[in-house]
Amino acid sequence: MRSVIDILDLSVGELDELMNTALDIAAHHDKYAERCRGKKLATLFFEPSTRTRLSFEAAMYELGGNVIGFAEANSSSASKGESVADTVRVVSCYADIIAMRHFKEGAPLVASFNASIPVINAGDGGHYHPTQTLADLLTIYREKGRLSGLTVGIVGDLKYGRTVHSLIAALSRYENNKIVLVSPNELQLPQYVIDDVNAKAKRGENCGLSFVQTNDMLEHMSEFDILYMTRVQRERFADKAEYERLKDSYILNAAKLKTAKKDMCILHPLPRVNEISVDVDDDSRACYFKQAENGKLMRMALILKLLELGDGKKPTVSGETGEFRCDNPNCITSTEQELKHYFKRDNGICRCIYCDKQVKPIK
Ligand code: CP
Repeated sequence: MRSVIDILDLSVGELDELMNTALDIAAHHDKYAERCRGKKLATLFFEPSTRTRLSFEAAMYELGGNVIGFAEANSSSASKGESVADTVRVVSCYADIIAMRHFKEGAPLVASFNASIPVINAGDGGHYHPTQTLADLLTIYREKGRLSGLTVGIVGDLKYGRTVHSLIAALSRYENNKIVLVSPNELQLPQYVIDDVNAKAKRGENCGLSFVQTNDMLEHMSEFDILYMTRVQRERFADKAEYERLKDSYILNAAKLKTAKKDMCILHPLPRVNEISVDVDDDSRACYFKQAENGKLMRMALILKLLELGDGKKPTVSGETGEFRCDNPNCITSTEQELKHYFKRDNGICRCIYCDKQVKPIK
């Protein structure tokens, strides 16, 4: 049994296989219409969603399967205090696969340790969003014909933007990619994302990335093969005044594309608020609605793959315990009091296994 919590749970070979399946589904849709007959997907969404939940549900219906689930925490027994672990133990009796979105970082990982069916992370707080990355990769591949040798500008809320964290991890698996990180100082990419890419590159586990950091979206515009815009994530801000100050940091409009390559590809995981002006929508470089469509194809491919792998051993906790507690208020450990805290060591740094934030065990 396999779960997908982090995009790195899939090898490069498996990403290729998923993209090939998605392209085959697009070309021969009818061939797949009965592939999940008799199977049920549970969509457990503790946080709002349009694309991810509905594309998972459409994916399962188009594979001939059925869907059960909930679209908000308030309509589940989480509102009565039920733990993630208990919820997924029960849902495992009713469904064959789970897609879970949760506002707490690490909740889908906890689910994967306790469910007896595969769990797919459909977005956990400001941490990861691996199936959005599947949509991003297929879109880049379809538009550019490659996933290597790309200069990718990533703009906006790089701190809380979970799609960014997963996309960067994925792009580090391919050769000669350069990432230009464009954000206000307050919303820079978390250091753990860069540290993880660099540590893996040092061990030869990925191809590495070259990073450039700037506050100015236009400075590198002429170099971008891909421009990945993101929304400032209002729901993650403790200080609403800070959100108001930062929310319009970058607004892409037609005038700002003057120096951009003619074949640049503009992506956005959506929803957009006003980071991309509607006057960009008719530009042939605007690919964000195709990206949403590709999300459904990749989710179909992923559901098929995980179900076809069949039964197997439940993932087990891999980490150390000690005298420490993760103090990240956004980590699942902050609300699930019974959850044992674990950390992993990487490159001399100890990190919570659930949220990846640095912890300091006493020993
Ligand atoms: N891209 C994305 O995750 O969109 P939703 O929040 O609508 O699912």
